[in-house]
Amino acid sequence: MKKILFVTSEAYPLIKTGGLADVSGSLPIALDALGHDVRIVMPAYADVLASLGDLPSKRINQAGGEVEIFETELPGTSVPVWLVSHQGAFDRSGNPYLAENGKSWPDNAERFSLLCRVSVEIAMNRMGFGWKPEIVHCNDWQTGLIPALLEDEGDRPATVYTIHNLAYQGLFPKELFQKLGLPQHFWSYNALEFWDQLCFLKGGLVYADRINTVSPNYAVEIQGKEFGCGMDGLLKERKDRLSGIINGIDEEAWNPATDPLIPHAFELGNMAGKDANKAALQKYFKLAPDKNVAVIAMVGRTVQQKGIDLVIEILPKLMDLTVQLAILGSGEKKYEQTLKHWNSLYPERIALKLGYDEPLAHLIEAGSDLFLMPSRFEPCGLNQMYSQRYGTVPIVRCVGGLADTVEDANPANLEQGKASGIVFRESNAEALLQAVTRALELFNAKTEWKKIQKTGMKKDFSWKQSAIKYLDLYALAEQDRQSLV
Ligand code: ADP
Ligand code: GLC
Repeated sequence: MKKILFVTSEAYPLIKTGGLADVSGSLPIALDALGHDVRIVMPAYADVLASLGDLPSKRINQAGGEVEIFETELPGTSVPVWLVSHQGAFDRSGNPYLAENGKSWPDNAERFSLLCRVSVEIAMNRMGFGWKPEIVHCNDWQTGLIPALLEDEGDRPATVYTIHNLAYQGLFPKELFQKLGLPQHFWSYNALEFWDQLCFLKGGLVYADRINTVSPNYAVEIQGKEFGCGMDGLLKERKDRLSGIINGIDEEAWNPATDPLIPHAFELGNMAGKDANKAALQKYFKLAPDKNVAVIAMVGRTVQQKGIDLVIEILPKLMDLTVQLAILGSGEKKYEQTLKHWNSLYPERIALKLGYDEPLAHLIEAGSDLFLMPSRFEPCGLNQMYSQRYGTVPIVRCVGGLADTVEDANPANLEQGKASGIVFRESNAEALLQAVTRALELFNAKTEWKKIQKTGMKKDFSWKQSAIKYLDLYALAEQDRQSLV
């Protein structure tokens, strides 16, 4: 049995802004099911505390003030969660990273360095919990200082750092390096400095015993200029320590046969519910009730990464085709505004809900025919997997985890029963439009369509296999750590 401290800035169902929360709410459970002792550390956001009621807590003087750690569990499981609270750091409601004006909270460096420092204290068994992990598993920039700070400790646990998205690097002005009181030797190109800025991400990339990303393909892509976000040189240098492990999905929450968030259950061999969900979705959005028109869905952050601008660019042409669109998302205001405009032009054909809506995300997966993910880059992506499980055929760009999890419906793959979606290469509007046109041809060729749906629905996206791979990675990290002693 391994003792693993899993540090994250969000975990479903406590708080979620994206896929990191899904992973943090699932992987620890899968590791626990394999008999390991996993404990999660995350910030005690005001909304999380409010949703949990009274919790036992421990107070300790640390980081120039009193830290309070609330003890709870991932809801419905016995996986312990430690929620870190410190003065006003996390005691504000709303988005964990962004203020209401859509800009980062001005004190994000202080907030997440506090999370890192407290995690190091827990990892070194100095918080009075009587528990010392063998592995500290860090996720994304918010936890990046942990491998660096642990490097200065004797007898430290091994560290694993998972890159969920290399584009978010935790970059802050140089002054903050001083303000955070980080040891001077970290101010170096070989440490936390990145073009004269403080870079949290580099703490993980430089110091972790092992680094991984959330798909094998993205692990290769980020070693090149196009996807490396300026870190490709460093990642290439550390390529012997870098690997990719594909995310799984929560197969209980995302199971069309038992999903309580959809009105009609369905499964392979009994697909009537899928049609009924389509009608329910059209009704919800006041789209024209027509079962022969293809409903194309999109759920996610409306940002450039996700190619929302390409979708907007082809909207005029899409309106010449027999399709309806169902879009749920939030993100950059300029895209939200443009989508609103299109929704007002074609209320019966372009449905839009701005904001975050978990139940609606399930209804959209259940009731749509096609799902669009024209991402510029995609470390893993989860919705293409949910889609396949729900018989909703994904149209994806051939990048990152999308390329690893969707097989294109070309004649050879169709023939061999491997095709599970439509995969296109170029990142432009023309290629996207062509992919949609190809998808519609398949949608109208009913036998092929059923075959594609069936192949997707039968695929195994469970966390168990990936959790076993993480255990192998932990073992390698421990070996690397030992070799330094
Ligand atoms: P990313 O983490 O880059 O945003 P992923 O595909 O890994 O992308 O994960 C996004 C997760 O967040 C999925 O579970 C998706 O269903 C969910 N999601 C994104 N936007 C919304 C929204 N507006 N409402 C409900 N769920 C959303
Ligand atoms: C990031 C990536 C996404 C990935 C998720 C979970 O947010 O953008 O592709 O699925 O992390 O690992």
